[in-house]
Amino acid sequence: MGKTEQNKTENSNKKKVKFQTIRGMRDILPIDQPYWDKIRKAVDKIAFDYNYGRIDMPMVEPVSLFERTTGKDTDIVEKEMYKFETQGKEKVSLRPEGTPSVVRAYVEHGMKTKPSPVKLFYIGPMFRYDRPQKGRYRQFFQFGFEAIGEQDPILDAQIIQTALRIFNAIGINKIDLQVNSIGCNECRPNYNKLLVSYLKNRKQSLCMNCRNRLKTNPLRVLDCKEEKCTQVIAQAPQSVDHLCPDCKKHFTYLLECLDELKIIYSINPHLVRGLDYYTKTVFELWSQDDKEGRASLGGGGRYDYLIEKLGGRKTPAVGFAAGMDRLVEVMKDRGIKGTKISKPKVFLAQLGDLAKMKSLSIFQGLEKAGITVAESFGRGNLKAQLKKADQLGVDLVLIMGQRESLDETVIIKDMIGGNQEVVILDKVVVEVKKKLDKIKKEVRIK
Ligand code: HAM
Repeated sequence: MGKTEQNKTENSNKKKVKFQTIRGMRDILPIDQPYWDKIRKAVDKIAFDYNYGRIDMPMVEPVSLFERTTGKDTDIVEKEMYKFETQGKEKVSLRPEGTPSVVRAYVEHGMKTKPSPVKLFYIGPMFRYDRPQKGRYRQFFQFGFEAIGEQDPILDAQIIQTALRIFNAIGINKIDLQVNSIGCNECRPNYNKLLVSYLKNRKQSLCMNCRNRLKTNPLRVLDCKEEKCTQVIAQAPQSVDHLCPDCKKHFTYLLECLDELKIIYSINPHLVRGLDYYTKTVFELWSQDDKEGRASLGGGGRYDYLIEKLGGRKTPAVGFAAGMDRLVEVMKDRGIKGTKISKPKVFLAQLGDLAKMKSLSIFQGLEKAGITVAESFGRGNLKAQLKKADQLGVDLVLIMGQRESLDETVIIKDMIGGNQEVVILDKVVVEVKKKLDKIKKEVRIK
């Protein structure tokens, strides 16, 4: 192949390269941002109302943090972590969830000296190498709330209330709250024994995954969705029937608090959650049309041993996290709107190089005064600019042509009344404000 021919092939190959987001990851485009914005605003407001302080944790943590907390034998740690070795040979992972990092931060920064409970919330991306499908992504966003340092079940009720308040604020009301208690280190070992012996006798009827779980994590068999397993699980002993007096009291009080708050719930004896650190209360929030909870909108529970496990002193805690991608999907399915984006009221049109340059400071002056302005600086053609202004439905168009730029003036055209006026550059912000106020008043009177 000759050199020119080779160059041609290289160039055409270069042209063909088209990058795309990697599987399970996606862009969230401006058109979708109002939904996300509505969720973030609701989270910020409710966090403030319930006294939670924001924490931002790193997206990368040591692999061992998740092995020790989320659990070595959980699907998340065993199959779904984005693990890699750094140049310094550290074994790290993109975070699959936020709770371990929050607890690490609590211990690392000595937050035990702060008044209890320490209430923290976070918003950010999480990473799980799961099989992508609708509502299941490899990079997804969670907001999470953690209350550390209080064992009273009233906190469990309040954390559920917080989650539901956020869902309500977004406009998502039809929610199924599923609750269960999986006991503590006192009562769970006995229950585990009972469960394992029941399941071992029916091992042949379990799926291969559950036969393995029987050895590593028998509780997880209870939330298997395989048809053959669900038949076995239906008759299995239930943790709520084998709680120690303390766990029983805790669970009963939680249910009484929920009744008091008029929060409707279902006690789900098969709800165990896929993470190792839970004790006592576990709960999930399902969309009412997701009968089996295959795409839970949120979930959480108590984790009274986790702080100790990460080197802190014995400290009870409770929390939850919700999946923002799934909430956005529910909003769309239910026709719930995102935040309203205020439309610009003014369009700034210019003609000629000097006018274009001067328009930059007019724009800044208006923006500083809190007036949103649309423009089309890249376009020189006045007709095209006015067409755009018309499409945007603005109230006023400011025109600076060649003559105005030399005279240091601007034409203000009222798009509703049709009249126009020439004002000196220094007065443009004041005049625009006056005219917008007048238009507002006229609209109100009508
Ligand atoms: P989780 O149940 O693993 O709990 O996740 C919480 C929520 O994140 C789920 O209910 C779901 O809405 C969303 N989610 C999980 N995986 C995906 C995915 N692949 N794609 C889209 N959304 C997803 C936790 O993460 C715990 N840290 C919650 C917690 C906080 N417990 C106590 N404190």
